[in-house]
Amino acid sequence: MVDQPVRIDLGSEIFSADVLQPSVGNRGFDVRKLRPETGYVSFDPGFANTAIARSAVTYIDGAAGQLLYRGYAIEDIASNCSFLEVSFLLLYGSLPNAGELLLWENDVSRHTMLNEEMRSFFDAFPRRAHPMAVLASATYAISTFYDVYRRPTREQEIDAGARTLIAKMPTVAAWAYKKSIGEPYVYPNNEFSYVENFLHMMFSRPTEITPIDPAIVKALNVLLILHADHEMNCSTATVRSVGSSRASMFASVAAGMGALWGPLHGGANQAVIEQLQAIHDDPDATIESTIARAKDRNDEFRLMGFGHRVYTNYDPRAKVLASFAQDVLDRMSIEDPLLDIARDLEAAALADDYFAERKLFPNVDFYSGIIFRALGFPQRMFTVLFSIGRLPGWIAHWVEMNNDPETRIMRPRQIYTGETERAYVPIEDR
Ligand code: CMC
Repeated sequence: MVDQPVRIDLGSEIFSADVLQPSVGNRGFDVRKLRPETGYVSFDPGFANTAIARSAVTYIDGAAGQLLYRGYAIEDIASNCSFLEVSFLLLYGSLPNAGELLLWENDVSRHTMLNEEMRSFFDAFPRRAHPMAVLASATYAISTFYDVYRRPTREQEIDAGARTLIAKMPTVAAWAYKKSIGEPYVYPNNEFSYVENFLHMMFSRPTEITPIDPAIVKALNVLLILHADHEMNCSTATVRSVGSSRASMFASVAAGMGALWGPLHGGANQAVIEQLQAIHDDPDATIESTIARAKDRNDEFRLMGFGHRVYTNYDPRAKVLASFAQDVLDRMSIEDPLLDIARDLEAAALADDYFAERKLFPNVDFYSGIIFRALGFPQRMFTVLFSIGRLPGWIAHWVEMNNDPETRIMRPRQIYTGETERAYVPIEDR
């Protein structure tokens, strides 16, 4: 069925906007001709009602708490696939068959090593450098070794860029961590799977190989999959925005990392643990006082790991993680008081009218930090782990944008509220 155009009554004229049909979800109407034809612009800070592209990567039904990667439910994908399998799905649109998966895994594992000159890059950072800053800088730095990827246009070059980023990011992340603790860098070992290799580079030493626990591999695999894409979130929109100027895949992804690092986005996973730890350590920071502060309009404090632009229901990723957190802790015989505090905080928030009225539920960051902690990752690495997970999503969107004939350089409009034209005043007369 074709919908009639949407008619917008502007008083003196009617603007007619064609309706854009989705395969499922919100319909859109096309306002591309609104300003040229009427002189009006639409006002939508934060793009809360603006579709920036047609996309076939990920679908979210926020009211139902549903998340699909290329049509597959996140719950199915998380319990049945490996992270590289999901990366293939996001990048190429369908799940790989056994042969394709083997080829993809081999291809990625043969590109995990960094150019040896990158060692001096890590050496140059201070020990206290946040690993997110190192990760984003290293993403730019790697591109300098691969001139051909500066602005890849041929399919082969785009594939090579995607593979390079996905293969090398765990090495970069682990080396950023090793640098921060003053330990020697551990080289990748292609005997290992993708996740095993990352754990090896993080936790082994040149003198001693730390055995890799299959339970940790499985848990990290699930965590990376849950973070792999989330349609037009802030960092993905950033990747698309930067890429729309025809900047390279590497420059676009590095910019996306900057967006992800903010505490309202991926940085929330570190902030959640800091908040839970404060409740644990500080007698003045109780569950009640934390909820009260989050509700106080005069306090910019927020309950981290709660709320979402799209979900008005329980985030399906948080649902998986809420039960998974206990599983992981039990399997590893860890008792973490922060999990109990998180549960109490969640129960108190869900029972509170403020959170109910605004439909604020736990999001993916609420429980992920507790699991990252149990797996042995320090807090400052949490958003780095989110980045490794989100990488295939960023790239899938960059490629989709690059191939989309409707893509134009992202260049929003404004409602100007400054001074109108005025006469220049010489400095001695001011
Ligand atoms: N604690 C207290 N109040 C909240 C929270 C929260 N976590 N989240 C939203 N609200 C309130 C907000 O004050 C506003 O109230 P009012 O209508 O009275 O002004 C209302 O709920 C709507 O919030 P908003 O800020 O307009 O919503 P948004 O869509 O612009 O922001 C958000 C979404 C995720 C940035 C926000 O919910 C938030 O700051 N959450 C905490 C940070 C967080 O957990 N971020 C991770 C997001 S999920 C994963 C990811 O993207 O990385």
